[in-house]
Amino acid sequence: MPEHLDPFREARESSGLQITDFNGEQIPFVLRLKDLRKTVKDWQNFSSDHPFKVVPHSEEHLRTMRQIPIEMDPPDHTDYRGLVEPFFKRPTQTEYMLEMAEMIHVMVSDLLDGNEFEAVHEFALPLQCKALALLLNVSESEAEVWKSWGLHALTEGSGLEDYTAEQFAKAEKNPGDDFFSMLNDVECRGDKLTFEEKQGIANVTFAGGKDTVINVVSSIIVYFAEHPESLKFLKQDEKYIITACEEFVRYVSPLTAISRSCPHASNVGNHEIAPGSRIGLCWPSANRDGSVFKNPDQVILDRTPNPHIGFGYGIHNCLGAPQARLIIRSLLKAFSDLVSRIELISYEPRVEREKSFVRQVGYDSAVVKVY
Ligand code: HEM
Repeated sequence: MPEHLDPFREARESSGLQITDFNGEQIPFVLRLKDLRKTVKDWQNFSSDHPFKVVPHSEEHLRTMRQIPIEMDPPDHTDYRGLVEPFFKRPTQTEYMLEMAEMIHVMVSDLLDGNEFEAVHEFALPLQCKALALLLNVSESEAEVWKSWGLHALTEGSGLEDYTAEQFAKAEKNPGDDFFSMLNDVECRGDKLTFEEKQGIANVTFAGGKDTVINVVSSIIVYFAEHPESLKFLKQDEKYIITACEEFVRYVSPLTAISRSCPHASNVGNHEIAPGSRIGLCWPSANRDGSVFKNPDQVILDRTPNPHIGFGYGIHNCLGAPQARLIIRSLLKAFSDLVSRIELISYEPRVEREKSFVRQVGYDSAVVKVY
């Protein structure tokens, strides 16, 4: 049975840190929720101002420019994030919410013909791509291009940087209300953004919001198939849509770690961190911290309170969280309104295999029938 097991429990409970090995570099992962919150707030000692060293380790070699605003500290981070934040908040507008709900309702209705389908590539991937087209305010036909890149915009796809460069050039010639035109137009401290800055913003927008969303969506589908009673539970009261959304983000926590660099000697818990080293912020471990969450390995759809940090914490908290939450809530609502049962025919977990840990983040495939 698919489980989303927690590989960090023992280290979290015994010491609070786990030394992980990435290409020979020893990086302590911070594992306890309380330590993680404290660390994230202390950006002077745990800095993001370290291009190519902040995003997930496995992706370090795949980028050619600084990721903005994720690889910045204040005051740069504050200014650059401020430029794009209004765009990322569009999912909180009523009209946008209705459009997303309608799109996902139609996609779920189309599944109800009793035919077998592969939920990751034939449902979660197109759903994420269509939703991104809505967010970026571009034609839905672009979603077809992004779909062809696969589940991860960088590790599986190719051509992201060429594609976004082309979109900036097109928007320059023919400006509109879309994300690319906004970035061409906007000024930071009196100057237009450079090409590298625009590319850095676009890159993290495409990469950060792809496999994370897909992994949560596919995990929800498999979970409902395996736990038919939970679909019934959701139908009882609409308020469970909100709590269930948070619980799935906590439980799946699709992003394993993001780094910070440590310019000065500092401490995490009782451990000393040497100057010049890096630490990993291990969100999924914090979200299974048994000193905060009762029965942390169980999905409790009405878990309240649920102080998870699946979307991060503090100044770098996820810019795409309104979009991700709207997608997940709309999906849960459509499932609760339209679906009575899901049959799981076969599945292949999506697993991160690092030297120091193995962790399921979602599914590579899940063949199901929906009734
Ligand atoms: C379930 C889905 C998602 C999860 C679990 C997730 C998780 C996270 C986490 C943990 C961070 C904090 C990084 C840090 O502290 O350094 C973050 C930041 C970020 N995320 Fe997400 N994310 C999700 C969806 C998205 C989407 C849909 C987008 C865009 C469309 C997105 C774009 C970003 C960006 C731009 C940042 C950087 C914010 C900053 O540095 O100020 N994410 N995300």
